[in-house]
Amino acid sequence: MNALHNINTPFYLYDLDLFDRTLDAVTNEANKYGYIVHYALKANNQKPLVERIISRGLGADCVSGDEVAAALQHGCSPDMVVFAGVGKTDSEIMLALDNEIYCLNCESVEELAVISELAEKAGNVAHVALRVNPDVDAETHRNITTGRDENKFGIHLMHLQEALDFCRNSEYLNFMGLHFHIGSQIISSKPFALLCERVNHIWNEFRIEEYGATMLNLGGGLGIDYNNPEENPIPDFNLFFNLFATNLNLPKHISVHFELGRSIVGQAAKLITKVLFVKKGINKQFVITDAGMTELLRPALYQAVHKISNLSSQGVTGKYDVVGPACESSDVFATELLLPETKRGDLLAIHSCGAYAQSMSLHYNLREKAPAYYIHNGILYSEDSPLELLQPIIV
Ligand code: LLP
Repeated sequence: MNALHNINTPFYLYDLDLFDRTLDAVTNEANKYGYIVHYALKANNQKPLVERIISRGLGADCVSGDEVAAALQHGCSPDMVVFAGVGKTDSEIMLALDNEIYCLNCESVEELAVISELAEKAGNVAHVALRVNPDVDAETHRNITTGRDENKFGIHLMHLQEALDFCRNSEYLNFMGLHFHIGSQIISSKPFALLCERVNHIWNEFRIEEYGATMLNLGGGLGIDYNNPEENPIPDFNLFFNLFATNLNLPKHISVHFELGRSIVGQAAKLITKVLFVKKGINKQFVITDAGMTELLRPALYQAVHKISNLSSQGVTGKYDVVGPACESSDVFATELLLPETKRGDLLAIHSCGAYAQSMSLHYNLREKAPAYYIHNGILYSEDSPLELLQPIIV
């Protein structure tokens, strides 16, 4: 780890070896059932990761026109791209139509009308799936729950018939099937089992196949172990896909799709940060780091807890609040955390920063974005030119 001391902090450090093993696991397990996985680009769009993902034959799940463009640029075949989002602009829809992507996941009858109109103007037929809000509790943080009645996402069952009829009546829409996504960082099987139950029911109740459905997309949401990232570096994809294979009750010819983000990239990176000060409070000691909510927003936004290790020090422990430098009281990574005695200049590693860390980083306080480094086969590479060898290090 000595070589890390020579790099300006903060930075994201990606472990491409672990990442490759994670990709092996997800593709092997999905292939067992013929499931198709679209990687949710929003979790992390770093080029070396996305290129590896695409080269393994995974598709892309996008939520903006720029993500669609990025997926295509990274070599993803248009027929492996899906595009979701409650607020697609006309030009984003046009981009999807022009590139003939696999499917637009539509979130309202209002959106269907616009897509149909734009497809007509373009002399095109839009492939659409209906994103249904199944009112299933994902048992996760409320800010990353998407499948309840009160959430803005998806078409409520009350409006599903209208949406199906709209698709049937428009010659510019090709109805592909249904899409669901109930939330993120789901660590219990229960919400997924419940989702299967709801899907089976909705599929029969609304006679989805009579509308020409060929696919079902179950979204993402599989969680990772933030508490024990080293013991559980790769999520249990076997358990996950098997649960759907066991609980879904659909005809064989329906292709089944997933949109996994966090579970694929989440454990692949650590955020490396330097201790600027250890400051005495009244009843506390603050470890003030040079990374903050600008590099990792999750604790401030979702009260997320990431494991933190001191890479420079071992031995006697002290109790610290680990905080960032931003002018926000919510810029706190951990409270009353037990760490080895920590001093100015120590390097800390904040674990599980592969998903929704670098992709959600901010310029707030005019801070420059932190760079990424990659370790592959014990060699450290820099961000934009991963082929440029920096220095061999021991990992
Ligand atoms: N599909 C759709 C329609 C989504 O909205 C999402 C995530 C995914 C797939 C991928 O979900 P995953 O497999 O990564 O759970 N920033 C938050 C997470 C927001 C998730 C947004 N949607 C966090 O840091 O926890």
